[in-house]
Amino acid sequence: MSPQPQAAVGAPLSRVDGRLKVTGQAKYAADHDIDGVVHAVVVDSSVARGRITGIDTRAANAQRGVLGVISHLDKPKLAYRENRVSNAFPGERLHVFQDDAVLFFGQPVAVVVATTLEAAQHAASLVKVSYDAQQPSTDLTRSPAQDGPAPFEAPYKRGDAQAALGAADVRMEMTYRLSRNHHNPMETHATIARWDGDKLTVWDKTQWVIGTQNELAAVFGIPLENVRVLSPFIGGAFGSALRAWPHVTIAALAAREIGRPVKLALTRRQMFFTVGYRPAYEYKLRLGSTRRGRLTAMTHDFKYETSRYEQFWEANQALGQMLYAVPNVSQKAQMVPLDASTPLWMRGPGYSSAAFVIETAMDELAYKLGIDPIELRLRNEPGEDPSTQQPFSTRRLGECFRVGARAFGWHRRNPTPRSTRDGDWLIGTGVATGCYDVFRGQAEAHARLDADGTAVVQSATHDTGTGTYTSMTQVAADALGLTVRNVTFRLGDSAMPPAPAQGASQTMLSVGSAVQDTCDKLRQQAIALAVEDERSPLHGVDADEVVVRGGRLHVKGNTARGETYRQLLARNNRTHLEARGSYTPEEESRFSMYGYAAMFAEVAVDARLGLVRVRRMLGVYDVGRIISPKLAESQAVGGMVGGIGAALLEHTVTDHRDGRIVNANLADYLVPVNADIPDLKAVYLDGEDYKAGPIGVKSLGELVQIGVAPAIANAVFHATGRRVRELPITAEALM
Ligand code: MOS
Repeated sequence: MSPQPQAAVGAPLSRVDGRLKVTGQAKYAADHDIDGVVHAVVVDSSVARGRITGIDTRAANAQRGVLGVISHLDKPKLAYRENRVSNAFPGERLHVFQDDAVLFFGQPVAVVVATTLEAAQHAASLVKVSYDAQQPSTDLTRSPAQDGPAPFEAPYKRGDAQAALGAADVRMEMTYRLSRNHHNPMETHATIARWDGDKLTVWDKTQWVIGTQNELAAVFGIPLENVRVLSPFIGGAFGSALRAWPHVTIAALAAREIGRPVKLALTRRQMFFTVGYRPAYEYKLRLGSTRRGRLTAMTHDFKYETSRYEQFWEANQALGQMLYAVPNVSQKAQMVPLDASTPLWMRGPGYSSAAFVIETAMDELAYKLGIDPIELRLRNEPGEDPSTQQPFSTRRLGECFRVGARAFGWHRRNPTPRSTRDGDWLIGTGVATGCYDVFRGQAEAHARLDADGTAVVQSATHDTGTGTYTSMTQVAADALGLTVRNVTFRLGDSAMPPAPAQGASQTMLSVGSAVQDTCDKLRQQAIALAVEDERSPLHGVDADEVVVRGGRLHVKGNTARGETYRQLLARNNRTHLEARGSYTPEEESRFSMYGYAAMFAEVAVDARLGLVRVRRMLGVYDVGRIISPKLAESQAVGGMVGGIGAALLEHTVTDHRDGRIVNANLADYLVPVNADIPDLKAVYLDGEDYKAGPIGVKSLGELVQIGVAPAIANAVFHATGRRVRELPITAEALM
């Protein structure tokens, strides 16, 4: 097969769906116009632990337009079968309206359905729920509750970290704290559910249409093929839509019980209750080093939040095992069950939290030893993955730092903390490493080339704002030899060829490779048709010598000899050609595969008020081939914005007296706004990684967030001489 010329891939394309979005034509979950739809509003618990002793629905039911109120008192039947595909956590997911138990503050306890949203909202406010409340346990920093399931432990050990610490020239021990964070995408979660007999159709905000399809089939005890999930546009998610939460079940349940299509949109306040969060951490790190800065030991002892009913896990141990060449490592991770809802993966899950700890500690060690923080990292670069002894597919972290240091002007910096001032502002710079796994999943796609020379390619993947519509169009266009204008990519429908969740940065590699395989097959089909067709100018040519460009097939190196897809299909009386292709990752890779980043930050800290302003940031990334440079830059900028949020602003506050989240709104839960965002620059190292996958890409979407917060924290230390081991870094901590 002759390689196709690269034209669309690598071009700085604007989003192909951009016009739909800015003109309001893109339909998000709640936007779909479904005939006869009625509205559901969830009533949520106002205690965090206990039993429901009564639900008085008389006033609600008396309201005009109210069609019904559903709670556990109605004993609605739900199968809650096992779902091994998309129900990831040990334990048992929350069963809605099946008993009187309250497991967390804000748990759905009833749903009101009415003909208008206003009637449903008002009636929901009239539902009176009484409780037998108990004192909840919601504080991670207090010892694990004794009456819940035992804390989960995940020990890891290589070498003898205790002995190596004892023998080390330099020993350090630090405890870090990370607050709970909520994803808070712009679009709130919403579901529309409609039953047609025993068939369920759901329009949902989800990062995994196939996952939601599997969960609904399991919850309702119906065959998978009876459930269809649609999610063509997503207004951000950051991980919150990676599983089907209780409200998705409630919408479908209400539609079944009331006998009408039901729309259920969570309020911003409810976004803090049942759609996951980044768990709080308490993390003790000890490290040992030689005087020349070679790490000899690291021990990681940490605990983080989960619910009482599920054991949430995230990839918080990999970085401690593979990032640096440390011969002796021990890790002990504990999940602490609390009277809280189950967390869910958020923006570089696990890695972000571990990176804050490890990368702040590296900065602390650099200062203790008087070694430049970049130099310290370079001295601990491993030649192979120290946790698996595998070679790296590619690892260009050192190059990221060298390129970044030059572009950022790192070496002009006076290393002494609190040495640079600009009026009232103390100025500091800091660096940190970012690193994220290359996750890969099985994916399939379908492509159809029509007689008019245009193509439609589809896969049940998603576009959370990451640019999937655009990047897949680019891959398909090059593989088909069409211009971008003549390719349409469709996604977000469980009836399409299956694709993995849009999470863990696996979409570009997995779905992109499936799209390329599919379009390669389709192109080869057209080429085969041409070379076997006596009336084709390409008749008798070796198929491997034919390339397609701009919709025209021709002999490689001889553009004169060829014809267009349109001519070929018309002459052969074909309305279309179609193909199906896939990508399946190998069972076990021989390589250690990660994306890498060097993050640089400059901050100004008000010497009297402790206010922190990020002045500029630079990220340099090693992620293999870049399919869509403009969107990759957009992702990097988004990652830095998210990292600024985690570093300085985002903090979910729980009142531990009753388990209430006190800042469940966007006025009190602070996220960065334009005024918080300075000049942000992203540089992607030129390159490709074909050991990671067939289209040369690694992973990008999560990586861009990881390392941002510690770079800022390290810059704050350089500016002020104050080491803050807690996120977010607040003015109070710097006073
Ligand atoms: Mo990402 S946190 O897996 O959406």
